[in-house]
Amino acid sequence: RPLPADHPLTVGATASAPLVQAYRGVRPQTAPVWFMRQAGRSLPEYRALRAGGGMLERCLDPETAAEITLQPVRRHGVDAAIFFSDIVIPLRLAGIGVEIQSGVGPVFDRAVRTAADVDALVATGPLTADDDALEPIRAGVRRTVDALGTTPLIGFAGAPFTLAAYLVEGRPSRDHLAARRLMHVDPDAWARLMAWCADVTGAFLRAQLLAGASAGQLFDSWAGSLSRADYAQHVAPASARALGWARGLTADGAAVPLVHFGLGTGEFLPEMRDAGADVVGVDYRMPLDEASRRLGDAVPLQGNIDPALLAAPWPVLEEHARDVLRRGRAAPAHVVNLGHGVPPDTDPDVLTRLVRLVHDAGADAALR
Ligand code: CP3
Repeated sequence: RPLPADHPLTVGATASAPLVQAYRGVRPQTAPVWFMRQAGRSLPEYRALRAGGGMLERCLDPETAAEITLQPVRRHGVDAAIFFSDIVIPLRLAGIGVEIQSGVGPVFDRAVRTAADVDALVATGPLTADDDALEPIRAGVRRTVDALGTTPLIGFAGAPFTLAAYLVEGRPSRDHLAARRLMHVDPDAWARLMAWCADVTGAFLRAQLLAGASAGQLFDSWAGSLSRADYAQHVAPASARALGWARGLTADGAAVPLVHFGLGTGEFLPEMRDAGADVVGVDYRMPLDEASRRLGDAVPLQGNIDPALLAAPWPVLEEHARDVLRRGRAAPAHVVNLGHGVPPDTDPDVLTRLVRLVHDAGADAALR
């Protein structure tokens, strides 16, 4: 399906942006760079806006969401914006009782523990990409891309496993034991839960892309608690189903690029690509040249500066960042990012300096 005629990729505003080029496997002159969790808690201008209202309410106010999305682009000069929202927003919009507690994460009114709980959840019906409930998201995306001009906006969604891990536990957990138990105690109920999560999160991603995002990223933050076999059998089909809602959206015949990121998922990078991703995001544990080798040196990569090093003395961080750039050359193209989100107490000036380093390194012969 072609994207709307006024979409930034269709009108040509973002089609030649370095980020979109790299996501499509064409290595630009300088590596594009953005940071997961670049919007939010590490920025004083965010904290100033944050007074009053809950996190999810901020996400659902289009003007606020657009402003917070733009803040790191203005401040750091990153090559992409990522839409300020949260992976649990589509659950809230589907009618699930969920809040984000500061310092804790998503907390649900009730956990989904049994087959009967799953059936009650599924009965609340799916969300569709043209659902009225998603209008605040579409409005926020439209405002954001109008202000961004030639800088691409990345839309995102949580992967079905990460959402299911929260739903089954009812809150954040360390090992996601309740979710991994349900997977094996009642595989049919698990599959129904995963399919529902895939459709809800897929609708959220598809709505952002149709409204103006130039790329999409699926976050599977908790898939690292799974074995490769469980991932392949019980999770990957649902992630493919979620990405399927975003696949096939095209501008001039070229698809909107899709990124698949997981934390601690080095052992199943090929399965993550095969779920329908154009780009694989790599966490800080695995060097990019090794990740690339596991993918046949055929897949553009995103990553993977260790967030812990943002607090290190500059020469230490600089050496690490140059090493990441060097190893990223094993892949057909490389988008620089962190290996997980920006820690809240990060000095924002370090991020700005890192963007400058990556952009200046493009012409640096020492890297080749
Ligand atoms: O800059 C960006 O990356 C865009 C915005 C974004 C947020 N959450 C904003 C946010 C994105 C892409 C997410 C995704 C998300 N949300 C993930 C996947 C990425 C990851 O980190 O692994 C997950 C697991 C969540 C769920 C979630 N939301 C958690 C665990 C938390 C932290 C709770 C806390 O306070 O420690 C949130 C809250 C959240 N999401 C904040 C922001 C800016 C903090 C809100 C605040 O304190 O004001």
